[in-house]
Amino acid sequence: MIQLFHVSKYYDRRPALSNINLQIEKGEFVLLVGPSGAGKTTLLKLLFCAEHPDDGQILVQNRNVARLRPSDVPYLRRTMGIVFQDFRLLPKKNVFENVALPLMVQGASAFETRRKVTEALKAVGIEHRKESRPALLSAGEQQRVCIARAIVNGPIILLADEPTGNMDPDLAGEIMELFKMIHARGTTVMVATHNRQVVEQVGRRVVMLNEGKLVSDKGAGQ
Ligand SMILES: Nc1ncnc2c1ncn2[C@@H]1O[C@H](COP(=O)(O)OP(=O)(O)OP(=O)(O)O)[C@@H](O)[C@H]1O
Ligand SMILES: [Mg+2]
Repeated sequence: MIQLFHVSKYYDRRPALSNINLQIEKGEFVLLVGPSGAGKTTLLKLLFCAEHPDDGQILVQNRNVARLRPSDVPYLRRTMGIVFQDFRLLPKKNVFENVALPLMVQGASAFETRRKVTEALKAVGIEHRKESRPALLSAGEQQRVCIARAIVNGPIILLADEPTGNMDPDLAGEIMELFKMIHARGTTVMVATHNRQVVEQVGRRVVMLNEGKLVSDKGAGQ
C-alpha cells in the first residue's frame, strides 16, 4: 500500500528525514509519533506529493510518487483523504459546500454530490450544521467537517497531521473514535500525533521518528 525505501529529505542541506524504510499494508492503522521537528509532517507531505524526496523511493499503491508528473498528482490525491491540524476550510463557503469541494473539482453530478456529502456529514455527526459557515463552529465541529471532506471521495488512504492538536482530552477522544470508525470500514489510516492519550486510545502500530530517523516501530501486524 505504502512503501518507503531509503528515503531522505533535506531542507537547506539539513536532513528532515534520513534513510527511512517503512512498509504499510492495506488496512493498517499507523500512528506516527516523535518530538517536534522529528519529521512527521515532512513524511506525510512526501506521501501526498506536497514535497519530493531527495533520495530513495516511495511507492503509494505501487506507483512511484516521486516520479509522478504534476498532471498525475490530482489522480493520486483522489485516492487519499488528508486532514490538517489547522482545518483549512474555506471561510466563505458553508459546511456542505466545503465538503462538496473535492467532488465538484472532479465534475460529479449534483445528485451524486448531495448523496456523498450527506453520507460523509452523517458519518462524522455534523449533518445538522451543514448550512453553517466554518467560523460559527467549534474546533471539534470544524475538525469533523475536515474529516468529512477527507472521506467524501471514499479514499483508500487517510492521512492526518495532528488532528487533535489544541483539543481537550474528551474532544480528542471523540475525534480519534471517528478515525477508528473510518479504519473499521476498510481505509488505511496514518495519523501523526504528539498526543500520548491518542496513542493509548488507538493502541495500534506506532512508528516513532526522532531527528529525521525512524527509531522504533511497534505493534505492526495487528
Ligand atoms: N519548508 C521547510 N523549510 C525548511 N525547513 C523545514 C521545512 N519544513 C520542515 N523543515 C524542517 O524539517 C524538520 C522536520 O520538520 P517537520 O515539520 O516534518 O517536523 P514534525 O515532526 O512535523 O514537527 P511538529 O511535531 O512540530 O509538527 C524540522 O527541523 C523543520 O525545521
Ligand atoms: Mg508537524
